[in-house]
Amino acid sequence: MKIIITGGAGFIGSAVIRQYMASTEFEVINLDALTYAGNLESLIEVEDSPRYHFEQVDIRNIKELERVFNQYQPDAVMHLAAESHVDRSIDGPADFILTNIVGTYNLLDVAKKYWDSIEGDKKDHFRFHHVSTDEVYGDLEATGLFTEETSYDPSSPYSASKASSDHLVRAWHRTYGFPIVITNCSNNYGGYQFPEKLIPLVTLNALEGKPLPVYGTGEQIRDWLHVDDHARALRLVLEKGKTGDTYNIGGHNEKTNLEVVKTICALLDKLVPDSPHIPHEKLITYVTDRPGHDIRYAIDANKIAKDLGWLPEETFETGIEKTINWYLQNAEWCQHVQDGSYQRERLGAGEKT
Ligand SMILES: NC(=O)c1ccc[n+]([C@@H]2O[C@H](COP(=O)([O-])OP(=O)(O)OC[C@H]3O[C@@H](n4cnc5c(N)ncnc54)[C@H](O)[C@@H]3O)[C@@H](O)[C@H]2O)c1
Repeated sequence: MKIIITGGAGFIGSAVIRQYMASTEFEVINLDALTYAGNLESLIEVEDSPRYHFEQVDIRNIKELERVFNQYQPDAVMHLAAESHVDRSIDGPADFILTNIVGTYNLLDVAKKYWDSIEGDKKDHFRFHHVSTDEVYGDLEATGLFTEETSYDPSSPYSASKASSDHLVRAWHRTYGFPIVITNCSNNYGGYQFPEKLIPLVTLNALEGKPLPVYGTGEQIRDWLHVDDHARALRLVLEKGKTGDTYNIGGHNEKTNLEVVKTICALLDKLVPDSPHIPHEKLITYVTDRPGHDIRYAIDANKIAKDLGWLPEETFETGIEKTINWYLQNAEWCQHVQDGSYQRERLGAGEKT
């Protein structure tokens, strides 16, 4: 099976590619523009495989997308390429509109024309899998869970752009019968995540004795899922999900941001016993909350469990320790991804235009 994976040099895309490459029946075309968030060092272990191809292509470029589809004649597309950081979307929404909405439209347009041109089994089995987030559903009170039927109510420019792209993908199915599946997943964590996101940011700051920023009171609740569990779920939905359907993916791991930060601090106290910054918890610094910060996200992942038999393999406790160990052992990777402009400064306070 030949799959175009967009955003394959990013955090989740590279985890999916590493899993696919472990199985000889798959050939992968990684289509990625290599923005600040894309890093081919995450794919060193697969880059020499004859079943792996890399195309540095921007999904805003229709001509280049057409070239890649014509050249590789894929059996499926898994679409992960996106601007993905909420704080950046507050400081500069334009890139989110252009990549997440217009880019997804370009990809749908090119993939649909390609699908029109193929025949037989290849056409019958073709799949376009759109990877999205639980943030499209907006905010929850203290109780309740997001199901596949929850109405969309996005709060940030990021989640609004992802909601728009979900609607486009669904419309391509309803209007043109284009064979799509959509997944909406909770917060991911794991190795190879760009250190603007909470867990790597806090880990790397703590190791250097820098302040650990907690937004507001840190009471916001997120449902955390290890990226390898997400990658397994994505592969299952692409191969076995029902055409036209949506699947929510979550880890049954609701934690407040403050709990997550304190867990990282306690693990670093244990794993780096000679650190001059013990107890790391004293580095916690409360900063102005993010504008429009949703209070709670929590996923009902029963449909994917019942219909496709997916369950996460990691608990938060096992996954977070593996993750912290990964950042401790991969300082060079962390250094290289930050060699560009980003130095873990505060983004998205809503003060810029
Ligand atoms: N990280 C999470 O917790 C999470 C949770 C649910 C859903 N998602 C979704 O999963 C997908 C992947 O997320 P991630 O955390 O791996 O993101 P990421 O920011 O780590 O990676 C995004 C990748 O997309 C590429 N990209 C960006 N703009 C592009 C463009 N115009 N053309 C081609 N490539 C482009 C980047 O170079 C990068 O490699 C996104 O669609 C995101 O919305 C993420």
